[in-house]
Amino acid sequence: MRVAVPRETAPGERRVALVPETVAKLRATGFEVRIQRGAGTEAGFPDDEYANAGAELVDGAALTSGADCIARVARPTADEVQAMSSGTVLIGFLDPLTDADGIARLQQQGIVAFAMESIPRITRAQSMDALSSQATVAGYKAVVLAADRVQRLFPMLMTAAGTIAPVRALIIGAGVAGLQAIATARRLGAVVSAFDVRPAVQEQVESLGAAFLDLGVRTEETAGGYASELTPEQQAKQQAALEERIPDFDVVITTAAIPGRPAPKLIPKSAVERMRSGSVIVDLAAETGGNCEATVPGEVVERAGVTVIGTTNLPSLMAYHSSQLYSRNVSALLLHLAPNGELTLDWDDEITAGACVTRPVSGE
Ligand code: NAI
Repeated sequence: MRVAVPRETAPGERRVALVPETVAKLRATGFEVRIQRGAGTEAGFPDDEYANAGAELVDGAALTSGADCIARVARPTADEVQAMSSGTVLIGFLDPLTDADGIARLQQQGIVAFAMESIPRITRAQSMDALSSQATVAGYKAVVLAADRVQRLFPMLMTAAGTIAPVRALIIGAGVAGLQAIATARRLGAVVSAFDVRPAVQEQVESLGAAFLDLGVRTEETAGGYASELTPEQQAKQQAALEERIPDFDVVITTAAIPGRPAPKLIPKSAVERMRSGSVIVDLAAETGGNCEATVPGEVVERAGVTVIGTTNLPSLMAYHSSQLYSRNVSALLLHLAPNGELTLDWDDEITAGACVTRPVSGE
């Protein structure tokens, strides 16, 4: 199987779908790998490392001709889809729940598309779970961004000039990103509280040394382990409870999300105004509209002395490690779809069928 890896074209995207380490492993298993020149440069993987790993380096148009599979990070543009041959396997974050036009284009072009978001969250597919690997990086980076902006030291310090109280951090949404944010904030020395609407996470929060903040709002878990959306009454109750508690915190990191839906609005502007001047909110849900009413997606803004960080695509800011992890996820999926480098798609398999979002209809 010949796998092609393009240079990403989405604005601000620094990651690359395969890194040299994984290319070497795939080569050893019988894959041929073509890399567009410069594809890994922004993530810290120069062309010569790919060449040493056995990849063929090519320019622009030559990349996709004859490729059986294209592995990428972000979804392709309409022009990029047009350049793909029917029957090509495509792997990437394809936004299957929110980009209906993009998915329709792939279907029309006859692409066999696997969305990394659609890989079932089952034990057997854990090595392919790119949502988790990238959320881990985002959770870490969110704390580092907060630490950079907040006008306080994270740890408690006892100095000759007296004692400094530690930062008090609140993490809202204790999924993969939130749990990593808790762990990172704790390592930096903050006193951490966390909240999630799924009651099952209380134990995980506490095992990381954080206190579970009970806001009196709970929902059921769906079959995939996700939270179900709050009713308007529950959302109003959560906002009111947060407004009451939020002035206690110097740093708030929000990660609350419902797959395929706009981010739930948890922090009203009035709650931001109640926070101490110099506090920081990092809104990891900015991409889907934000958990905080004051968030401007893609920007860092100040409101009543509070910095609200709406920077999107945090994994891209740590492109070396996020690419390394993503590459391992992609490689695990490739080896699942094509053991020994030979494509054998088993549509009865839960992972193959679950991750596939378009394929040519039989007879086409
Ligand atoms: P996500 O990114 O969709 O959501 C983040 C968090 O926001 C979730 O914990 C959710 O409960 C929470 N949330 C939603 N609405 C909220 C609200 N109004 N207030 C507060 N919190 C709210 O979820 P993520 O991190 O991708 O994964 C969620 C869960 O999926 C995991 O905790 C786990 O149960 C399951 N999972 C299973 C895996 C496996 O078995 N292989 C791997 C990864 C995740």
